[in-house]
Amino acid sequence: MDMDMASCRRRWPLLLALAQLLVVCGGLGATVEHTFDVRNDLSISQLCQPARAITAVNGRLPGPTIHVREGDTVVVHVINNSPYNITIHWHGLFQRGTQWADGPEMVTQCPIRPSSRYTYRYNATGQEGTLWWHAHSSMLRATVHGAIVIKPRNGALGYPFPKPDQERIVMLGEWWNGNVFDLERNAFLTGNLVPQADAYTINGKPGDLHRCSGGSNRRPRTFKLKVRSGSTYLLRIINAAVNTPMFFKVAGHSFTVVGADAGYTAPYETDVVVVAPGQTVDALMATAAAPPSRRRYYMMASPYNSARPSLPFRNSTATAVVEYVDVGHQQNKQGPRRRRPVLAPIMPPPNDTATAHRFFTSLAALVRPGARAPAVPLAVDTRMLVTIGLGLAACRPEQTRCSGGSRQQVFAGSMNNASFVLPAAMSLLEAHFRNATAGVYTRDFPDAPPLEFDYTRPPRGMSLATAKSTRVRTLPYNATVEVVLQDTALVARESHPMHLHGHNFFVLAQGFGNFRRETAEKQYNLVNPLQRNTLAVPTGGWAVIRFVANNPGMWIMHCHFDAHLPIGLAMAFEVQDGPTPETALPPPPPDFPQC
Ligand SMILES: *[C@@H]1O[C@H](CO)[C@@H](O)[C@H](O)[C@H]1NC(C)=O
Ligand SMILES: *[C@@H]1O[C@H](CO)[C@@H](O)[C@H](O)[C@H]1NC(C)=O
Ligand SMILES: *[C@@H]1O[C@H](CO)[C@@H](O)[C@H](O)[C@H]1NC(C)=O
Ligand SMILES: *[C@@H]1O[C@H](CO)[C@@H](O)[C@H](O)[C@H]1NC(C)=O
Ligand SMILES: *[C@@H]1O[C@H](CO)[C@@H](O)[C@H](O)[C@H]1NC(C)=O
Ligand SMILES: *[C@@H]1O[C@H](CO)[C@@H](O)[C@H](O)[C@H]1NC(C)=O
Ligand SMILES: *[C@@H]1O[C@H](CO)[C@@H](O)[C@H](O)[C@H]1NC(C)=O
Repeated sequence: MDMDMASCRRRWPLLLALAQLLVVCGGLGATVEHTFDVRNDLSISQLCQPARAITAVNGRLPGPTIHVREGDTVVVHVINNSPYNITIHWHGLFQRGTQWADGPEMVTQCPIRPSSRYTYRYNATGQEGTLWWHAHSSMLRATVHGAIVIKPRNGALGYPFPKPDQERIVMLGEWWNGNVFDLERNAFLTGNLVPQADAYTINGKPGDLHRCSGGSNRRPRTFKLKVRSGSTYLLRIINAAVNTPMFFKVAGHSFTVVGADAGYTAPYETDVVVVAPGQTVDALMATAAAPPSRRRYYMMASPYNSARPSLPFRNSTATAVVEYVDVGHQQNKQGPRRRRPVLAPIMPPPNDTATAHRFFTSLAALVRPGARAPAVPLAVDTRMLVTIGLGLAACRPEQTRCSGGSRQQVFAGSMNNASFVLPAAMSLLEAHFRNATAGVYTRDFPDAPPLEFDYTRPPRGMSLATAKSTRVRTLPYNATVEVVLQDTALVARESHPMHLHGHNFFVLAQGFGNFRRETAEKQYNLVNPLQRNTLAVPTGGWAVIRFVANNPGMWIMHCHFDAHLPIGLAMAFEVQDGPTPETALPPPPPDFPQC
């Protein structure tokens, strides 16, 4: 906030002198500028391992937070001083009019190569709350990520809930002892899945249930949230984990959820928050009215493992500490040396689908008094039923160390049995813009699975085969699209977090088993459905989303598990230009990276 006020002042000294400070700045939008220096030199020692250099932005994990007000312009100069190709994605920002700044490698842009730079410019328009940024190139997002906080134009006064006393970012993550770039490269070459993470983290730290988590004052290894009694804290919870949905609790405290994916929700009271990779949840946490008897409470994040049959996962818990600063040590009669243990919450077991489903289906959009709820488009132009899941594909020539046995089959992800491959020579968006699609993509992504079957209980012996392609679904500008996402149980059923770029979608309904239109339509919420950019489709189930394709360009929809994106659990929408210059894709910026 300091930063946007500063640049606001620079840009509008006279107007500001006229004292209409906040209003003027809010109205015109300030420019918030950052330089992201991506280097491979943040040295971290975790889990009793020797210190290791990781790839990070400005030497920080999590990276810097971008604070803006709705309507502000964001300018980020990315300087790639790492040895890896990289791009940055601004997860959940619409990029209307700035489509070239979205970031996914070879969808929007060629990578920013080592020793190169690129400046991302976009506006934070039409959404408020918490989003985040992350690398969208190999598995680097494990450590290259940070928060984006979009406040209302008039700051915290504009919140549709009582102004909290303080706000804190809580980023959940995964930590690997090995180099994540090498781990993913090796997985690709051999056709294996990336190994499970070595620990989960809260704001980069596994916490003190892990050995060697003592740390030092200079670099404490447990995140600590210092609180006062009788106060309210807005926790901006972001799941930046690469492959794992998380349960989140704080012992002795409960939450009022007020936002998700930078949209306000109807207040929802809960003692557990569930957040899938890519999603954000804004939750108010009230502290005890009077100083409580205990000083310290654990904040915990533990995995939700939705796969059946269960695939290998790290069954461990990340912790942080909520510490009351107004509870004196003297209250502990035994004295500070024998402090009472930190109170721990009881976490749901890793297979607790019921708790995950209850949380996800309890969220609805906030309808403000006097304001209309976001209008759900009722007339649908395009209906799609899209199966999502896993399978097996032939090992590709570049996978030089395939270990798939005689038939050389490797794990693949697919949507409607098309296993998505990124183009190599030109990004999808550039090919679309130049009308040079030959050899880059085809416009034949199907509206229905090629084969109808019992998706969640496939017949025994059914083929797991799927084939690689780069197929997109072309949509006219402004088309209203309804997509039923249907999980399959081929290989394993699993709750895939599906993320759509460039748009939010309405979540109309979700359930278990095979989608049946007759029964599902009766459950559609057409009154106040949640709008979000990432949806955890129930494991062995389905979800119905609806969106308006009002953003011309090329937008990938994909599983936000990094284990599934590179193996093909993705497709893309090609949204055609509208009739006016404002509704057409502009040309790429002059410094756009080339392959
Ligand atoms: C972004 O905001 C600025 C300042 O309000 C405005 O001049 C510009 O046209 C906007 N850009 C887009 C692409 O909407
Ligand atoms: C996960 O770890 C907890 C605590 O150590 C243990 O009780 C539980 O059985 C484990 N669950 C699985 C599925 O491994
Ligand atoms: C979860 O796993 C435990 C054993 O780890 C099992 O007893 C329980 O039935 C499972 N629950 C569900 C809903 O699958
Ligand atoms: C795009 O290319 C195709 C094939 O080369 C051509 O038929 C079509 O007219 C082109 N469209 C535009 C808008 O230039
Ligand atoms: C998927 O496509 C492959 C060919 O690429 C085919 O062998 C397989 O039967 C198809 N499976 C389904 C479920 O459509
Ligand atoms: C797109 O839809 C919006 C909302 O329905 C409407 O206001 C606008 O005129 C439409 N634009 C075009 C080009 O169809
Ligand atoms: C980095 O990007 C360039 C340009 O797209 C490409 O030629 C090169 O193979 C990439 N390097 C790696 C290691 O992927």
